[in-house]
Amino acid sequence: MNNGYQILEIKDIVFNTETIKTFIFNWKMEGEEITKPGQFMMVWNFNGEGDEKPMSLSKIDLDNEEIGITVKNVGKFTNNLHSLKIGDELGIRGPYGNNFNLNGDNILAIGGGVGMAPLKSFVEHVKSKNKNVDVVIASITQCELLFEEDFKKIGVDVFTSTDDGTCGYKGFATHRTIDLLKSRTYDMAVVCGPEIMMKGILNILEDNGIPGQYSMERYMKCAVGICGQCCVDNTGWRVCIEGPIFSSEEIKQITEFGNYHRDGSGIKRE
Ligand SMILES: Cc1cc2nc3c(=O)[nH]c(=O)nc-3n(C[C@H](O)[C@H](O)[C@H](O)COP(=O)(O)OP(=O)(O)OC[C@H]3O[C@@H](n4cnc5c(N)ncnc54)[C@H](O)[C@@H]3O)c2cc1C
Ligand code: FES
Repeated sequence: MNNGYQILEIKDIVFNTETIKTFIFNWKMEGEEITKPGQFMMVWNFNGEGDEKPMSLSKIDLDNEEIGITVKNVGKFTNNLHSLKIGDELGIRGPYGNNFNLNGDNILAIGGGVGMAPLKSFVEHVKSKNKNVDVVIASITQCELLFEEDFKKIGVDVFTSTDDGTCGYKGFATHRTIDLLKSRTYDMAVVCGPEIMMKGILNILEDNGIPGQYSMERYMKCAVGICGQCCVDNTGWRVCIEGPIFSSEEIKQITEFGNYHRDGSGIKRE
């Protein structure tokens, strides 16, 4: 972990969907700065109101020493990020948190919306190890499906589902996964998306005896385990230190998972 900020120029911006952009930065890949799929960076936008938020690493390019974060425009902070141009600067610190672990030869990645972000770098890692990986991409509608073409380009089987049926399977990621598991099986699965979706996927994977690793989001302030903002009730685990990736066995112990989270003031939100 590197606790100092690096002030970095935005090297490139990819327009993924109408509401999602990927920002690329140069990043040294040695010592404490080596990043792993599943980890996140704290991004400080001093161009806007000076706020700082966690963002997963969607791109980790060891050869070219580049990282990428993929950001959905949902509020003030992300809207400010989306207004930035190539050459603008951001403060980046990290990498933080634990990472996905590759266990087995046959992997399933299941992502909803911008939850595909941490899965993208993991899927690329799995392919680089010559293992098989299939991907379920779910979104509300076709124009929000994230990374479909990127995955197809590297030879990954992609199974899309949209809530409104405008692309692929009509239904939720859970329905698509149940259908897929009728004909294929996997050694492990990685999952990221809305908690209600991840909770449904947890039940399905458990029924099929497939171990899972889940990327969990909580409001963060320090990201280094000091402030306690990201603690999940009843376990004492901090999402920024013991997470953000939790195994099936761990996530089953987190009673707030899929039920509520705490906002920046510590107030419970459904
Ligand atoms: C470990 C970790 C990794 C993360 N990785 C990413 C990432 O790769 N890409 C990314 O875009 N965000 C990611 N986030 C979430 C990000 O840090 C922000 O919380 C989020 O983008 C909201 O930013 P905002 O301040 O603009 O919106 P806010 O003003 O906080 O929220 C605006 C509205 O959007 C809703 N909202 C908040 N977060 C999300 C969300 N993620 N998706 C949909 N609606 C939301 C809120 O409920 C609210 O109604 C991650 C969070 C964590 C803890
Ligand atoms: S954000 Fe401070 S302990 Fe996790």
